[in-house]
Amino acid sequence: MMRRVYLDHSATTPLDPEVLEAMLPWLREHFGNASSLHAWGRRARVAVEEAREEFAALIGAHPSEIVFTSGGTEANNAILKSCCQESGLTDTVVYSAVEHHAVIHPAEALARHGIRTAVLPVDSWGRVEPESVRPWNRPRTLISVMHANNETGVIEPIRAIRDAAPDALLHTDAVQSFGKIPFHVGQLGVDFATFSAHKIHGPKGIGAMYIRRGIDFKAHQHGGAQERNRRAGTEPVALIVGFQVAARRAVEQLEQRARHMERLTRLLRQLLRERIPGVLFNTPEEGALPNILNITFADAHKLDGDALILGMDLYGVGVSNGSACSAGTMQPSHVLLALGRTPAQARAAIRFSLSKDTTEDDIRYAVEALERVLAPMRD
Ligand SMILES: Cc1ncc(COP(=O)(O)O)c(C=O)c1O
Repeated sequence: MMRRVYLDHSATTPLDPEVLEAMLPWLREHFGNASSLHAWGRRARVAVEEAREEFAALIGAHPSEIVFTSGGTEANNAILKSCCQESGLTDTVVYSAVEHHAVIHPAEALARHGIRTAVLPVDSWGRVEPESVRPWNRPRTLISVMHANNETGVIEPIRAIRDAAPDALLHTDAVQSFGKIPFHVGQLGVDFATFSAHKIHGPKGIGAMYIRRGIDFKAHQHGGAQERNRRAGTEPVALIVGFQVAARRAVEQLEQRARHMERLTRLLRQLLRERIPGVLFNTPEEGALPNILNITFADAHKLDGDALILGMDLYGVGVSNGSACSAGTMQPSHVLLALGRTPAQARAAIRFSLSKDTTEDDIRYAVEALERVLAPMRD
């Protein structure tokens, strides 16, 4: 059988068996609705509230500051739209040029409804210059800058951004960073944050938003009174428990996982440098997540990005050419363009994203596959 090497963990991760085990009782016998008053409902309610308490503690928050959502996309939408619309807290949204589309597109939608928006420029590694937010230091502005980038892994200076704009509301999308680098709401000084379970070996369709206490946050999704009126909809208890266990394990094992992934990412960089002529790195050696390495090629104009990904797939290697959410479209990655790459270089980029389960053999095999895929294309 062909060897299979999955190196697309920033798109999604496999569910950990321990997470699945923890979820199963909540799909089988404990099926109650957490809003029901009877024993079935009370049991579900306890599970949801215990998950909320534990997740809150993992990020240095209070349980009342956590709202479960269907994932990162919903959390980003709810935060941006509620701040500007339902909650009436802000009239301006400022976001970085390298945000995920789950921030950029809601911001653009708000702009169509008359909200003022502005895009923060980034340097050649995709980092926001903290001083550039100073003009936006006003209470009715929401600044949204991701904690770490999903395409390049670069870590944004969230604390410095907070210090440069102490009066603005600050949101960070921590979907990629949570579980990879330490995350603490107090240390970062954020008012809002976004999380997703399926990037940390949890189930798809569940995530959370952190909303700092004292902020009068009104639901963006209306219906029942769940989540203290901040997000309507029957709580998916099994998914919430899965998120809880995945988050617990990610934080408990953070250092050991990070050390492992960092060592392999370094090996990958070294092998690519030795074996792939003309390789260019879109991920800095310092100040990036331990598990992402994004590359492109000096002769990118001669290469076809989709053919690279499909060529790797023929060798059983799963990698991606940018944001998974825009895969399938031929738009060059807005993140790589913001770094100053040419459209051809952005299109030919490859993102390797590792996990705690990636091995040295996986890395060596992936580099060998890339050599073989590139050779005929360059002839
Ligand atoms: C940085 C970032 N934000 C948001 C999302 C969307 O999260 P979800 O898939 O949970 O909706 C992703 C997923 O690719 C992401 O990488």
